[in-house]
This record gives sequence, structure tokens and C-alpha cells, in this order.
Amino acid sequence: MARKTFIAGNWKMNTTIEDAVALAKGVVEAVGSQDAVDVAICPPYVSLAAVKDVVKDSNVKLGAQDVHWEKMGAFTGKVCCGMLKSVGVTYVIIGHSEQRTYFHETDSTVNKKIQAALKAGLLPIVCIGETLDERKSGKMEAVVETQTRGAFEGISREDALKCTIAYEPVWAIGTGETATPEQANEAHVFVRKILADLYDEESAQSMRIQYGGSMKPGNAKELLSQSDVDGGLIGGAALKPELFEGIVNPK
Ligand code: PGA
Repeated sequence: MARKTFIAGNWKMNTTIEDAVALAKGVVEAVGSQDAVDVAICPPYVSLAAVKDVVKDSNVKLGAQDVHWEKMGAFTGKVCCGMLKSVGVTYVIIGHSEQRTYFHETDSTVNKKIQAALKAGLLPIVCIGETLDERKSGKMEAVVETQTRGAFEGISREDALKCTIAYEPVWAIGTGETATPEQANEAHVFVRKILADLYDEESAQSMRIQYGGSMKPGNAKELLSQSDVDGGLIGGAALKPELFEGIVNPK
């Protein structure tokens, strides 16, 4: 089954509103009219509204970097799905390793966020991935399996099909160190096996799995040409339109 490549930019805690608008304009100019690849950019919350105005007539979709699972109310500092919907967000990154490492994200909060996002009509980008210690001690598969099963617990097949998974080995994020195309593909094939077990083979074959971790123009083509790598979640290289473009149209 053909899975359309999906490249998403995760801007993390970078850009003022002014910077974000300029960067979004650059991205729209570079890749906003092509439709061979699905493209999304995920600016910080405070820039979502301004960036929405920039991308609205293009093929670039808007994403957020996190969401809280509660509907509304006394949750100081949090942003709910309804707010993201109202600003025009399509995708939401859930369970990023930085959230897991620094902000107490667990498989259970990831699951609650996915449920809330799907209910609100947002499309989750669900992040999973092992640390260097976990890989070195042979636990990559166990970690990725626990995270995947935890994320999708109680999620129907129909809803799971709306999700993208981002396999991001923590040791490759922002380090300049990339998983080899073979390492990435092997992990993706493994995740797809878990999805087939959770749902069925057809569903597993139709769900997109992005690779994330120091993807850049120089390594994108080889990574994206792997059988089970269906796109990328891009951090550092998403902050420069020419680098991001070099991943959307890798040479
Ligand atoms: P990186 O980040 O491309 O800077 O490694 C990827 C991510 O954390 O999503």
C-alpha cells in the first residue's frame, strides 16, 4: 500500500512571533505549492495564529507541539484541544521525548492526550523511541513496544488510522547522530508488526511512520527510501526553509 510521505517540522521552543512568521513564509515559498509530500509545521503555541495566516492558502498544514487532555478549566499553563482547533491546527505532536524526559510525560498521559486529540478531530503524531542506554543494553524493541502499546491502548482501529507515528531514537535527537537507514527501517518494521498485532496487517501497512533524529538534506534521501520510513519529524533542520525544503525534496 502506498503511503504518502509526510514531513513535519517541530520548531520546539524556538522563534518569536516575528521569526515564526518569517520562517513560515519561507517554508510556504519553498514547499507550499507541491503536493507530492504532505507537509506540516509545528510552531510554539504563541505563534500558531500568526503562522496560520501565513499557511492558510498553501499545502502546508499547521501542527502543535503538545496538548493537554482535559477539556477546559483550572489547568494553569495548559492548552486544550478545543483551543488548538479554534486556531486552525490539524496535527498535534504527542509524547515527544523532550516531554517524556523533562516534563513527566508517561505512556498513560500520552494515551490520554491521543484520546482527547482524536475526539476533537486533531491528528496525532505519536512519538516513541529508545535512549542510548536502552539501545546499548538491547532493550530497543521492549521500550518501543511498551510505548506503542501504551499509546494505543483503548484506541479503535478507525482512530488509530488517523495517527502518524514518529520513531525518534532519543540518542539521535539534536545530536547530529542519525540512525543508519537500516537501523531506522528495522525499528519501523518492528513498530509495524506491533500495529498489526494491535489491529490488523492492512491497518499496519497503511499507517505512516516518520523517522526523527538529526534528519537533514544530506541523509534524507537514503532514510526516506527505506521500505518502512514514511517521512520525517524534523527539529533543527526545520528552522531553515532551505534545509527543510532539502528534506521535502531530497536530492
Ligand atoms: P532533530 O529533532 O531533527 O533536531 O534531531 C527531531 C525532533 O526532536 O523531533
